[in-house]
Order: sequence, then C-alpha cells, then structure tokens
Amino acid sequence: MAKHKLQRFAETATFSNFIQPPPYHYSEDYPLKGKWSKEFFKNDHPLILELGCGKGEYTVGLARIHPENNYLGMDIKGARMWRGAKTALDENISNAGFLRTHIGQIEQFFEKDEISGIWITFPDPQPQKPRTNKRLTSQRFLKRYEKILNPDALIHLKTDNAAFFDYTLEVISENGHKRHFHTHDLYDSGLENELTQIQTHYESMFLAEGKKICYLNFSLKQ
Ligand SMILES: C[S@@+](CC[C@H](N)C(=O)[O-])C[C@H]1O[C@@H](n2cnc3c(N)ncnc32)[C@H](O)[C@@H]1O
Repeated sequence: MAKHKLQRFAETATFSNFIQPPPYHYSEDYPLKGKWSKEFFKNDHPLILELGCGKGEYTVGLARIHPENNYLGMDIKGARMWRGAKTALDENISNAGFLRTHIGQIEQFFEKDEISGIWITFPDPQPQKPRTNKRLTSQRFLKRYEKILNPDALIHLKTDNAAFFDYTLEVISENGHKRHFHTHDLYDSGLENELTQIQTHYESMFLAEGKKICYLNFSLKQ
C-alpha cells in the first residue's frame, strides 16, 4: 500500500469524527445503533447519510449549510474518507462524521426511523448484469434503507451514468416508490443550490470530461 495511504489510515484512527468498527461487528448490531445523534453528535438533530461518500464532499458541504442536521458519510475506503474527516476537524464542523464500513451492513448500524435522508453520490454503476444486486439503488439495497429511514425521508442520487440513472428510475416505478424530481442534465436545469454548488471529486472529473450529470430524488413506498 502507498505510504501516504498508510499514513492516512494511521491518522484516521486518531480522529474523533471517524468510526471504523472492527470486522466482528459485522455479525452483531453496532453499539451506536439508535443512538448516533445523542451519543456521537451529542444532540437530537436529524441524521442524514451519504453512501459511498469517498472524500465526503456532500457530508461536509451539507453539514456547513445545515447546522440543524447531522451528516454521516459511509464508505469502505478509509484513505479517501480521511480528506472529509480532516476538513471537518480543521473547520470545527461538529455535525459531520464518517463511518468506514460496508453499506451492505447498514441495518446493523441504524435503527428503524433513525435516518432522515440519504445521498448517493456517484455510486459505482456496476454495469455487469450479475452485479445488479450490488447497485446501491437496486431493490435489494432499497429494502435495507427502508428498515432505517423515517417515512418522510428523501433519497437523493447524483450520477454521470445515464444507464444507471435509467435503471434506478425503472426500479422506482416497478416497485411503487415515489419519484419527486429528476433531470438528466442537472447543470442545464436552472437549479442553483447545494445540488450544483457542492461537487464531489468524481463529479469534477466527469464534468471536466464534458459529461452530463443526472439527479433524482425519491421516497420509498410506505
Ligand atoms: C465512484 S466512487 C464515488 C465517491 C464520491 N461519492 C465521489 O463522488 O467522489 C464510489 C465510492 O463508493 C464506495 N462504495 C461502493 N460500494 C460500497 C459499499 N458496498 N460499501 C461501502 N462503500 C462502497 C467506494 O469505495 C467508492 O469510494
């Protein structure tokens, strides 16, 4: 492993806003389940997740804009997450945290109704058919989210991949979920808010390549 990655791993172990549970937790509920806001963020504010957060641009960016919410970025790649966690610590952003774990284990980390929103930012599109179940917007994953989301929660998706986006639209309509807003070209939609003002690392690369960015928000069938 590259030296800077090892250094970043070592540093994240010392970060107060960075949680990386040992693998044995994968077979049992994590102790903060149902208590993230009270015990980790020390308040009673709504908790919103960024899944596959990478460097955590949405976790940190939304936390800056919305001090009334708590934000937790989830990813498995700790060296990437280091960036967001370090920025949050340097800027004293106390409503942003990071959880390094597999998203497939999400129900072991959060209680029913504990989560008030999910952002899925430039997920791996997993284009091969046998990997459909690994897509973060597959019905298999949506069923997991259903177990932790409160009924009013919105799920936001940003992606450069039109095929993945159209697949997600199909999953939503086939399973009776409720689509609220979608665009195949976010930067031509006239929107000027956190959707366009916060850009992730991957998003910047896709924009530099001239790709269009798709955006969607939806809620799950009750
Ligand atoms: C294409 S990157 C996007 C990162 C970031 N959101 C961005 O836009 O720059 C996808 C991220 O999702 C993470 N990821 C994909 N599947 C995951 C899973 N099942 N559990 C945890 N992380 C996952 C990867 O580690 C990677 O950092």
